[in-house]
This record gives sequence, structure tokens and C-alpha cells, in this order.
Amino acid sequence: MNERGRKAHQWTADKLEFIEKYIPAFVKATKGATKRYYVDGFAGPGINEFEDGSKMRGSPLIALEQNEFTHLYFVEKDLDAFKALKQIVQQHPNKDKATLYNADFNEILPEILVQIEERSPTVFLLDPEGLELEWRSIEAIAKREKADLFILVSASGVLRNLENNFAYDALTAFFGDTSWMEIDKYKKVGMDRYHAIVDLYLDKLKGLGLTVARHNITARTSKKVKLHSLVFAAKNDVAIKIAEDVLRRLQPPPDKRGMTPLF
Ligand SMILES: C[S@@+](CC[C@H](N)C(=O)[O-])C[C@H]1O[C@@H](n2cnc3c(N)ncnc32)[C@H](O)[C@@H]1O
Repeated sequence: MNERGRKAHQWTADKLEFIEKYIPAFVKATKGATKRYYVDGFAGPGINEFEDGSKMRGSPLIALEQNEFTHLYFVEKDLDAFKALKQIVQQHPNKDKATLYNADFNEILPEILVQIEERSPTVFLLDPEGLELEWRSIEAIAKREKADLFILVSASGVLRNLENNFAYDALTAFFGDTSWMEIDKYKKVGMDRYHAIVDLYLDKLKGLGLTVARHNITARTSKKVKLHSLVFAAKNDVAIKIAEDVLRRLQPPPDKRGMTPLF
């Protein structure tokens, strides 16, 4: 992060556009609900700054501005980013709807979950940079009756660390077990290791009783190296249909932007 905001790339804009379009569709689909919630587990400083100097609101501000949630919870571990976000939120007309935590999402999640009724539709945006999202957090969320989850799976982070002895604990916490040690077993015909990692993660989500969207979006570098994939999982099929619909509408030609279909 720099002083003014988080350094961002085209992929960030794609990701935020998806969230921006998803929320109104989610609200429409849940209009019968009396309450709905938003949890941003890796919230960032609130502003993303692009190389050309232009700026874009981060995910917590997009959700706050849409003003459709009963309450919003933002978690940011880095103190500077937290302070930057807090300052912006405090000036916002909807500030009373947001609770901010300067904490590790995995540690604070139980405290957040007890504040949200099980039956209330809730969007969880889990957008870490690497392997910071632990599987125990996904398990806790999946126990809820209602949950729509956007998860940024840093498969390149997993790939980079597969042979790193010091990363054993981080990888095991990320997957909730040692299945990552046998990643080549998950490679189907024509599948590379990156896709095998995402596939394993999706299978594990399904194992928790979540339905996963068929389409995902993958960020690539300008040299086409795959970085991470935004996956969507939910406790109900309607949410999946909405996410797929938004994804289809957003899906640009692969060479135009950072985002391309995963499969
Ligand atoms: C990719 S950024 C989030 C960007 C944000 N979604 C946006 O739209 O601007 C990830 C953020 O997670 C924070 N972070 C890293 N580990 C964390 C943890 N364990 N708990 C909470 N936040 C964490 C980082 O400091 C960083 O600001």
C-alpha cells in the first residue's frame, strides 16, 4: 500500500466491477428479507490507486455506498490501511452502519458471526493477497444457513510455496489439511497445476455443502501468467444463478482485460 491508496491493476477494476454489479442483483433476489449483511474480511484502505493516477473505491466503500445492507463489517489487519479506511468511513453518511476491526480476519470472525442472524442473507467478500484466509474461517461461514461467498484463491501463492518447507503451516491452514501435498493427484487430463489447485479448493468448498459457480474469473499478468481466481460459492442455488449471470455479462474478450474464464 502507498500513502494514498492500494496500488491497483486492471484486474482490481474487473473484480470491483463484479462486486458492484452483484450487490444490486443480490438485493433484488433477497427483497423479502428484513435484514441483510456484508462482511469484508480483507477490506484494504478503501481506495485503490492505478498507475495512471486514477482512483477507484475499494470493496468496502462500494458496499457501504449502495446502502442496501442492515450492517456491514470491515476487517483490515494492517494498521495503516485500517486507519485510512476508518478515516473515509467516518466521513461517510452511512458510517453508523459499519463496524471496523483492526484484526486478523480468522481471529475476529467468530465475534462477527454471533452478531449476524443465521437466516439473514449475508455476502462475505474474502479478498486476501496470498494465503491469509484460513480454512477454519470458511468452515465457520459454511455452517450458517445463509452465506454468499466471494473468495480470492491465490493459486499462484500456493504454487510458489509448494516446495517451500517454511510454508507447510500456512498451506495446511489455507487448505485445512495436507491435501496440497498431493496436488498432482488432482490434475485431470490437460489440467495444469494452477487449475488443479483451484479445482481442489472448489471440491473442498463443495465438501462443506456449498454450491460453487461454474464460472470463475482469473487474473493474469501481462505475460499471461495466472495469478489468482475469484470463485463464488453459496448456500443456495439462486445466489449461484445471480453470480453466473453477472459473470457472463462482465466476461470480456480474454485479451482485452485481466479477467478470463477459468475453464
Ligand atoms: C487485496 S487487499 C483488499 C482489497 C479490497 N478488497 C479492495 O477492494 O480495495 C487485501 C487486504 O487484506 C489485508 N490483510 C492481509 N492479511 C489479513 C488478515 N489476516 N486479516 C485481515 N486483513 C488482512 C491486507 O493488509 C490488504 O489490505
